Amino acid sequence: MKIVLAGGSGQVGTLLARHYHAKGDEVTVLTRRPTTMPWRTAHWDAETLGPWAQELEGADAVFGLAGRSVNCRYTPKNKRLIMDSRVDSTSVLGQAIAQATRAPRVWIQASTATIYGHSYNRPNNEDGALGGEEPDAPHAWRFSIDVAKAWEQAADAVETPRTRKVITRTALTLSPDRGGIFDTLLSLVRRGLGGRVASGRQMVSWLHDADYIAAVDWLIANQHMSGIVNLAAPNPLPMDDFMRTLRRAWGMPIGLPSTRWMLEIASFLMQTETELILKSRYVLPGRLLAEGFEFQYPLWPIAAEDLCTRWRARSM
Ligand SMILES: NC(=O)c1ccc[n+]([C@@H]2O[C@H](COP(=O)([O-])OP(=O)(O)OC[C@H]3O[C@@H](n4cnc5c(N)ncnc54)[C@H](OP(=O)(O)O)[C@@H]3O)[C@@H](O)[C@H]2O)c1
Repeated sequence: MKIVLAGGSGQVGTLLARHYHAKGDEVTVLTRRPTTMPWRTAHWDAETLGPWAQELEGADAVFGLAGRSVNCRYTPKNKRLIMDSRVDSTSVLGQAIAQATRAPRVWIQASTATIYGHSYNRPNNEDGALGGEEPDAPHAWRFSIDVAKAWEQAADAVETPRTRKVITRTALTLSPDRGGIFDTLLSLVRRGLGGRVASGRQMVSWLHDADYIAAVDWLIANQHMSGIVNLAAPNPLPMDDFMRTLRRAWGMPIGLPSTRWMLEIASFLMQTETELILKSRYVLPGRLLAEGFEFQYPLWPIAAEDLCTRWRARSM
């Protein structure tokens, strides 16, 4: 297959590039800073059409993954970058797909499970209520929902009649790679800090990297699938249980709790937003389950064991 990963130099893109490259597929990563990798990298600016659009000709799958990381303080400048990098890159990628002579077969555009409302007890399938108006969520949390909506609207706004369009609302994608989300959570556990986070009731929607890859492979193969698809394990759980299970999988007997005010301070020092860990994300993969997709890691305890084992193997 010919696979193009726009914004594919990050955590998720690297998972995909490794997977397709290992299978012998032709992989091209579009990046603002091409470097030498085992696969091809090509320059794009993620804003304007250019010679990079040729890379999409005849592709079996094009992924839209670009966006300034949300793991930062939401200053006015960062907010503008978070929003514009997603909207602009998605619009221009869509235009390139629409005007290709040999249209790509499928466009898989990243979105986020954060688009659903903050909810402790109401799970969200694809028809779940979008966030933004929840009475118990701080106004500041509205920004990430506005970004997600604008991001999806940018993909919706481009007509690609010859290319199937799938928008993936993805939960926390966990792999043992250094610098990723799992690595960050595990570093808290390894330091004895991975205890209760605030009330601990907030739901964690997560996805094992093997299931992320299997699900997108399945979406490429199943040509009747288009539109919004939730990519999340079928068993989200409260943060308290999530961290306890991770401590057990790692073999760490203690985990000091973090209250909300401690998190506000830590988050300020770490230059990130507490929303990333305080918001309750309760998301289910309704369409994948209805279509018979089988998860290899549907339950967090087995997924956590596997991720810890692979993390340890990589640090030897
Ligand atoms: N990881 C997750 O669990 C998760 C969950 C839900 C949604 N998502 C979304 O899925 C996408 C891929 O996730 P990821 O974890 O691989 O993200 P990532 O590691 O932050 O990588 C995103 C890529 O976007 C590009 N980028 C960064 N800033 C940019 C800017 N200002 N303008 C244009 N491009 C920029 C970078 O490529 P270059 O610097 O090489 O150009 C980078 O490699 C992201 O948009 C993310 O928000 C991720």
